[in-house]
Amino acid sequence: MRRTNTCGELRSSDLGKKVCLQGWVRFSRDHGGVAFIDLADRYGITQIVFDPEDLPEGTDVARISEIMKSFTRESVVSVDGIVRKRVEGTEDGRNPTGEVEVLITDAELLNKSVTPPFELGDQKEGVLPDEDIRMRYRYLDLRRSEMVQTMQFRSKLVHLARQYLDENGFLEIETPVLGKSTPEGARDYVVPSRVHPGTFYALPQSPQLFKQMLMVASMDRYYQVARCFRDEDSRKDRQPEFTQLDLEMSFVDMKDLQDMMEGMVSYIWKGLYGQDLVTPFPHIAYRDAMERFGSDKPDMRYGLEFTKLTDVVKDAPYKIFQNILAEGGIVAGMNLKAEIAGNKVGRNDVDRYINYAKKVGLGGLTWMRCVDGKLESNIVKYFTPEILENIKTTMGVEEGDLLFIIAGPWKATYEGGGALRKKIAEDLDLVPNDVFQFFWMDECPMFEIDPVSGKYDSFHHPFVLPQNDLDDDYVGGACFDLCLNGNELGSGSLRIHNADLQKAVFHKLGLDDERIEENFGFFVEALSYGAPPHGGIAIGIDRLCAILLNKDTIREVIAFPKNKRATSLLDGSPSKVADDKLEELQIITLAGDMDFDFEDIEESE
Ligand code: AMO
Repeated sequence: MRRTNTCGELRSSDLGKKVCLQGWVRFSRDHGGVAFIDLADRYGITQIVFDPEDLPEGTDVARISEIMKSFTRESVVSVDGIVRKRVEGTEDGRNPTGEVEVLITDAELLNKSVTPPFELGDQKEGVLPDEDIRMRYRYLDLRRSEMVQTMQFRSKLVHLARQYLDENGFLEIETPVLGKSTPEGARDYVVPSRVHPGTFYALPQSPQLFKQMLMVASMDRYYQVARCFRDEDSRKDRQPEFTQLDLEMSFVDMKDLQDMMEGMVSYIWKGLYGQDLVTPFPHIAYRDAMERFGSDKPDMRYGLEFTKLTDVVKDAPYKIFQNILAEGGIVAGMNLKAEIAGNKVGRNDVDRYINYAKKVGLGGLTWMRCVDGKLESNIVKYFTPEILENIKTTMGVEEGDLLFIIAGPWKATYEGGGALRKKIAEDLDLVPNDVFQFFWMDECPMFEIDPVSGKYDSFHHPFVLPQNDLDDDYVGGACFDLCLNGNELGSGSLRIHNADLQKAVFHKLGLDDERIEENFGFFVEALSYGAPPHGGIAIGIDRLCAILLNKDTIREVIAFPKNKRATSLLDGSPSKVADDKLEELQIITLAGDMDFDFEDIEESE
């Protein structure tokens, strides 16, 4: 290799060395015939200088000068030169190579670049263009130092996870990408089979069934950096294809699984930051998380907790609450303490939050403020002095505090309240961005029951081990989530390893024997061949990287992501398939030349 050094390597200790650097022309400027170029690669930036006056005798200055003229922005070039000290006062303290420069003695254009569509220097030099442009030219976007660092971080994180799991006896095993549907709650991406016309493979929403069958196969400890595919609405933390760190273990209980994960996260942490993470992570029960923070993945780095007021207000002659309580709903309040928030939220803000509450599915929002020791608002007339006093005591209300009261069906109301809580915390800058708080959300139900149809749905997925009899009023599931700063990072569970129990759960979910056989027959059969007790978990690598790097969306930590409309602006996928190919697959499309207007698709939280 001709290259002797990268663009991030040279220091004062290299003065006088003859070097050859190869990289991209990031930035160039001319000072009275002397050309200064920032030569960049993924390791850094080195200043290279073409100074005709200073060249060793015998150098063909005219030839090099001609070559240098072809060094357009983002062209890839090769230069030979001598490392020298920068002129005093021109050193760049922010750049590790900033004390030196390379005096060019020979140069070669390796490949000329056409004018790039946007500036690739640090953001201080050029403001980032629209995300669509960055996606369209992602290979250029990835040249930016911020993106290089992100890719390096991600690579290191995955490497550390692999190292830890390898050291702990896990086998890395690949499972099929072309398979049968695995229910993880999203739509499948399907792939037509040419050999069996009219039939389709489903891309895996997760390797769930295969990793469980690996346990039946005695593999004991499995992991995989697994690509998963889910056709669901775009969100900042969701992509149609994403990566899970997926693992499964045999002969374990929930604590074994969680201990292993805490060990892995701590190992990654130490490797990334050189610091010890505090373990064990705290736990919060699903019901507590919902009732205190309005979320099953609460951000507990700030307060604004909800307190149940159902019993306190049950006798208040306030029609709205009465109706809600009669239908089995709840009433809960959030106290915005005067010194933290209450004083900063004026009457107009209250109206703004009332509107926001409606947007996030709350019927409305009741508020009261403590003025001169008394709760005031336009609705206090519907409450007796005793009830108001009781609200004050229950909520620990003091002078100037502002109360927001939510009411309605349990789940929707707490979820709406959680969204409101998050909005208020963001508006008032209450979220400490430099704190990372891991915790386990557990004590989950096995099923969710649709209040209208009464139909059972899995809380996680149908393979979770029930904690009690399936006919009990409440069935707990041996499942849990790993959460970080208001995000669900991963979820795991102990699994059903008994074929009859697995069938019983499918029945509870409304599948008859025929459908069980058709969709999961192979899997239930596998369980009947001595499946060991087992459990596992999957962590979203994209989410973990995005949170640790404080990125707004996971698109920022994926080399080639899809945009909000599940499109790749780089290669234009998804795209039409030629008629002869469709014919071969015996597929007729109904979409024809219809054009959909995706412009209105808004990304939800
Ligand atoms: P779950 O569906 O909760 O569990 O997924 C596990 C983790 O994967 C990440 N994730 C996603 N990341 C980006 N884009 C998406 N569309 C997306 N969907 C999920 C999240 C999530 O916590 N088989 C089970 C795990 C198990 O039980 O072992 C599963 O897939 O970080």
